[in-house]
Amino acid sequence: MLENSKIIIDLDACTKCKACVNECHYYQIDNETLKLDEEFEEGCEECGKCVAICPVNAISLKTHIGKTLKEVPTKEDLPSFNSLVNLFQTRRSRRQFKKTPVPKDIIEKILDTAGRYSATGHNEENVYFTIVQNREILTKLSDECTKQTKNLIEKFEDPQGRESLKSVFSEDMMQKAEELIPSFKRKLIRISQGEEVWRWDAELIVIHSPRDSATLIENCTLAAGQIMLAAETFGLGTCSLGYITAFFNIFRSISKIVRMPIKHVVGYTLAIGYPKAHYYRIPARKPLKAKWL
Ligand SMILES: Cc1cc2nc3c(=O)[nH]c(=O)nc-3n(C[C@H](O)[C@H](O)[C@H](O)COP(=O)(O)O)c2cc1C
Repeated sequence: MLENSKIIIDLDACTKCKACVNECHYYQIDNETLKLDEEFEEGCEECGKCVAICPVNAISLKTHIGKTLKEVPTKEDLPSFNSLVNLFQTRRSRRQFKKTPVPKDIIEKILDTAGRYSATGHNEENVYFTIVQNREILTKLSDECTKQTKNLIEKFEDPQGRESLKSVFSEDMMQKAEELIPSFKRKLIRISQGEEVWRWDAELIVIHSPRDSATLIENCTLAAGQIMLAAETFGLGTCSLGYITAFFNIFRSISKIVRMPIKHVVGYTLAIGYPKAHYYRIPARKPLKAKWL
């Protein structure tokens, strides 16, 4: 047996086929013996590809102990390119949702697959999901977004208020927020007419990670992309919510409502629910912008 804090290798079973050596530079063959690089324990990201590639199942990650590993499906079991194309073209941002609750087990199924199996930088697997289904909490969130928007507009329009904002916002944020004021004003008008403009009456999936993650936004965004596609297969619609994501990260009064850990940053927020309207056709997109070298 070759064992360290992360891995156990059954050397008797190992055929020295070099599959693991070719896959990962922390594996070496030295004098016909399988060895681990001295930086293995520090460097191994526990991605499990050595486990996946070993033809005789001689390698086990300690995190896998007690788990039955699923066989890789054959190509026939994967969706065809055409069915994927249909999925890619069917997904649209929805802005009209029924108030029908989304069954918890469906969201769980989507997050446990599409969410959990998306790629993360350095295989950090550090993407967290906060699912907001409770109508009282959802309303509280929308109300607080409205309150903070009103506050922001008031501050921008008052010279003293502007100065106070400069001590909290970077120059870049000040400029971005200023550009958004007309759109915020339009939202407030629609809110006064009874419309729910922050999350379109849908439930929420808030995707977040510890602040020190090197690829936080990318990890959360990749998970969101897979979740949006998986949701379609259950007849669910989604919408990316950039405003709410920003509000979670700027206003503690908003992130507190969903008990966001203080050391986490929200990387993506999705509205999720049953669409109210039906789309009949797929509008054409702008031509592909690609450079071939
Ligand atoms: C990062 C990101 C943030 C977004 N934020 C919002 C938002 O706050 N509110 C909203 O209604 N739509 C939002 N959207 C949805 C876009 O407006 C939408 O993707 C775009 O109109 C294209 O439509 P499609 O998603 O149906 O292809 C966002 C999309 C992305 C990718």
